[in-house]
Amino acid sequence: MSKLAIQLPGLSMKNPIMPASGCFGFGREFADLYNLNQLGAIAIKATTEEMRFGNPTPRVAETPGGMLNAIGLQNPGLENVINKELPFLSEYDVPILANIAGTKTEDYVRVAEQVSKAPNVTAIELNISCPNVKEGGISFGTDPNIAAALTKAVKEASEVPVYVKLSPNVSDITEIAVAVEQAGADGLSMINTLLGMRIDLKSEKPVIANRTGGLSGPAIKPVAIRMIYEVSQRVSIPIIGMGGIHSAEDVLEYFLAGASAVAVGTANFVNPYVCPEIIEELHEIMSEKRIDHISDLIGRSWKSCYSPSLSR
Ligand SMILES: Cc1cc2nc3c(=O)[nH]c(=O)nc-3n(C[C@H](O)[C@H](O)[C@H](O)COP(=O)(O)O)c2cc1C
Repeated sequence: MSKLAIQLPGLSMKNPIMPASGCFGFGREFADLYNLNQLGAIAIKATTEEMRFGNPTPRVAETPGGMLNAIGLQNPGLENVINKELPFLSEYDVPILANIAGTKTEDYVRVAEQVSKAPNVTAIELNISCPNVKEGGISFGTDPNIAAALTKAVKEASEVPVYVKLSPNVSDITEIAVAVEQAGADGLSMINTLLGMRIDLKSEKPVIANRTGGLSGPAIKPVAIRMIYEVSQRVSIPIIGMGGIHSAEDVLEYFLAGASAVAVGTANFVNPYVCPEIIEELHEIMSEKRIDHISDLIGRSWKSCYSPSLSR
């Protein structure tokens, strides 16, 4: 078996690298640049039942070490995703993680039910950062009971394993992680963006029309590493780690913290070839550091059986 192959619920991956949801669309632009078969998996843009145009512009802003975005879940809607985008991706031998969103439990359930029947969707990624209408706009991802109830409902509707994508905008992320594991989640994705804001000096108004946006990129990597380090010691389901990954060294750091695979987001906007480059770099760094298999590193920063091979 290849040193990089990873088997996770629903995801049989040649290597642990996938583009993160929202940073790769449905792969069409990237397919013109390189062969998508090189990727371990693909997380598609959040899909909602109805097509969404997203928030008014400006909806992105640069920040030191990252960016702010408030795209507002722009996507072509479930029907187009099932009839156009997923058939395009089925030309490739790559498992698809279908990121789904909604504003009520029933929205998520309907999307999960239908998208999980698509032949190349091998797992669902449940984006719980969206507002829960019943609870007056509180995000599904900020209350352990609400997150657990949504996970349970989506698990019952889905024909494929379900990964719950956690929001970092909470005081104790382990509470949410444990609650969704108990509700039947097959895995976790973490982290989504951190809520942020910028003000324009000239207009003295927020730079982003939505006022606040999600911070991503290298600036959030230490937050993600800390959260994965904490959560991986509390749950036994696998974690797909993300937040500021730009290099193979970043990937090793995520594995040491407790991730079993990773997703690359903002880096795709800086360098569209970043995913295949990281995969190549990973092969080299693993030989250099004499790591037999990437999975040997999972959680090694906190597991007692410390092996010093990375310091060679
Ligand atoms: C422009 C943009 C759009 C995003 N859209 C989604 C989305 O639709 N669903 C989702 O779960 N996460 C979305 N994310 C979050 C990313 O998937 C990822 O969790 C986050 O950006 C952290 O990784 P990074 O620092 O490598 O970008 C988006 C991020 C960006 C920058």
